[in-house]
Amino acid sequence: MNLEKIIDKKNTDLSKKIDKQKVPEHVAIIMDGNGRWATKKGLARSFGHNKGVNVLKEILKASKNLGCKVLTVYAFSTENWTRPTKEVDFLINLFSEVLEKQIDEIHQESIRIKFIGDLTPFPATLKKLIQNAESLTKNNNTFLLNVCANYGGRQEIVKVAKEIASKSLSGEIKPSEVNEELFNSKLLTSGIKDPELLIRTSGEKRISNFLLWQLAYSEIYISEVLWPDFNEVEFLKAIIDYQSRNRRFGGIESLPNKSFKDSKYSS
Ligand code: FPP
Repeated sequence: MNLEKIIDKKNTDLSKKIDKQKVPEHVAIIMDGNGRWATKKGLARSFGHNKGVNVLKEILKASKNLGCKVLTVYAFSTENWTRPTKEVDFLINLFSEVLEKQIDEIHQESIRIKFIGDLTPFPATLKKLIQNAESLTKNNNTFLLNVCANYGGRQEIVKVAKEIASKSLSGEIKPSEVNEELFNSKLLTSGIKDPELLIRTSGEKRISNFLLWQLAYSEIYISEVLWPDFNEVEFLKAIIDYQSRNRRFGGIESLPNKSFKDSKYSS
């Protein structure tokens, strides 16, 4: 794989610092700071969300070019409904607009798109667009974009627990058969390798109910940059930092992430 030159402010070619053998297969991102970015510029928060979409496009391209296989982004949490109705409506319209305008390009790029979360409360028009986008791209298996929408990590875990409890009550499974593998198979991310790397922008140091189960052993990279100012250079800095980590998974030796070797998106 040939990476194009990516020059930072100090004129260093970051692509040369990347170890192509150690690129994370799955990167998760909490795209934070849209509102603050806009407010700082004296603009409405919606401007930050609009700019955020362009950044997502750039990072999607960058991660695919780098050789990542899966990108999971936190677009709307179960807690985001508490925002003013105007902002919630804006975000919902933005998701529809992005799907309408970008889905052909996403498909041409051979990217599969999946929405993760409880989509029930979204308007029928958005649900239809999501269904069409997922069905159009379902056979694209070079890269997967997971968009977490009305997603909450605790809610996901409770949902799995309920399902297992009910199967146990009906005698379909024995309590002694409940293990991590079974739990994993019922998550919304089942079949997808856990993220090796979580990036959160805007300097906040929280997980905010994102992928609570899946992030158990992920490396965390906090960028001080607000999401609308994030770009390929900042993304490569996160990858370079990740590559400097010694991943031991609770043991004493550095190990590759071995839990999902058979994942469809693992190489
Ligand atoms: C966090 O910034 C950002 C969001 C809640 C929305 C992110 C959504 C997008 C970038 C659109 C993505 C679209 C698709 C279809 C995937 P914030 O509003 O919490 O910022 P603040 O912390 O500064 O208030």
